[in-house]
Amino acid sequence: MKKNTKLYETVAALMAPGKGILAADESDATAGKRLAMVHLPNEPENRQDFREMLFAAQGIEEYISGVIMYDSSIKNFTDDGVPFPDVLTAKGIVPGIKVDLGTVDLYGFKGEVVSQGLDNLAGRLAEYYDLGARFAKWRAVITIDEDELPTDAAITMNCVILARYAQIAQAAGIVPIVEPEVIYAGDHNLAKAELVTTRTLQILFQTLMTYRVDLEGLILKSSMVLAGDMCSEQSTSEQIANATLRTFRLSVPHEVGGIVFLSGGQTPKRSTQNLNEIAKLGQQPWPITFSFSRAIEEPVLLAWQGKPENVPEAQKTLLYVAKMNSLATQGKYDAAADTVLK
Ligand code: 13P
Repeated sequence: MKKNTKLYETVAALMAPGKGILAADESDATAGKRLAMVHLPNEPENRQDFREMLFAAQGIEEYISGVIMYDSSIKNFTDDGVPFPDVLTAKGIVPGIKVDLGTVDLYGFKGEVVSQGLDNLAGRLAEYYDLGARFAKWRAVITIDEDELPTDAAITMNCVILARYAQIAQAAGIVPIVEPEVIYAGDHNLAKAELVTTRTLQILFQTLMTYRVDLEGLILKSSMVLAGDMCSEQSTSEQIANATLRTFRLSVPHEVGGIVFLSGGQTPKRSTQNLNEIAKLGQQPWPITFSFSRAIEEPVLLAWQGKPENVPEAQKTLLYVAKMNSLATQGKYDAAADTVLK
């Protein structure tokens, strides 16, 4: 199959050393939950103000290589009428777009879900490409529950759908980020998370290869391997880093363009600290960086509080958080000296 080298250029830009991806791709409903943290109503104007503050922050391009948006935000403008993707492109940041349309129950498999959004995906991607998007994200959800979940059937169904999405994206000249999120919530231990993540990624890459997805033109977005948030036995960053890299070595082919992490509900500090510990384990076959949403946005939201006079302070916070994560990708983050991230 003819290779599309444009995809590799996008992958290289996204995985540039010392940079990572800002996942600002909350659906309108989820954006409402973020705004509620600072007691703001979920109105389009507040969503716009928050995104504009993030994207317009001076100097973020030093640490941020790409930004994932949502359908309503990729079509949104600044107060001065500049389309959001153009704000990013002007800074050399690659615009991206979340294209799954959320999850629905997988009939016959209690507690398991499948992501939807394949219908007319090619048409939607063509529109997003015209708006400036050069990469996309599709999130699948894998839930751990006792000994029963996840089932191989649910993992496989999600992986086939991820593979079909990746094919359609690559055909459109758009780099697919494939994201099988193994959910952190629960009381499972670290060993269980490692087992499930390894199994999921093995099925995922087997499926991607079966469907001839070009792995060099693709990025994996993964959870870190973590004991569930309700597990009584929590792990050190070092244990998490070792379990995560063991998982990748057993399941991620070396050709894969890069691996990025979601924060998954960990605190901003833990997310950064764990990323740092992973980087400290040295060079891996793939470039590895962050693609955090909550771990980047929460400190910024708290600094902002929805007040125009706080915008400079909030943007300063964004730069700080991005810089700390950039340092973490190089194993140079000093958690003890950091009094800002919580
Ligand atoms: P979090 O970093 O908040 O987990 O979000 C990342 C993401 O893109 C989830 O799909």
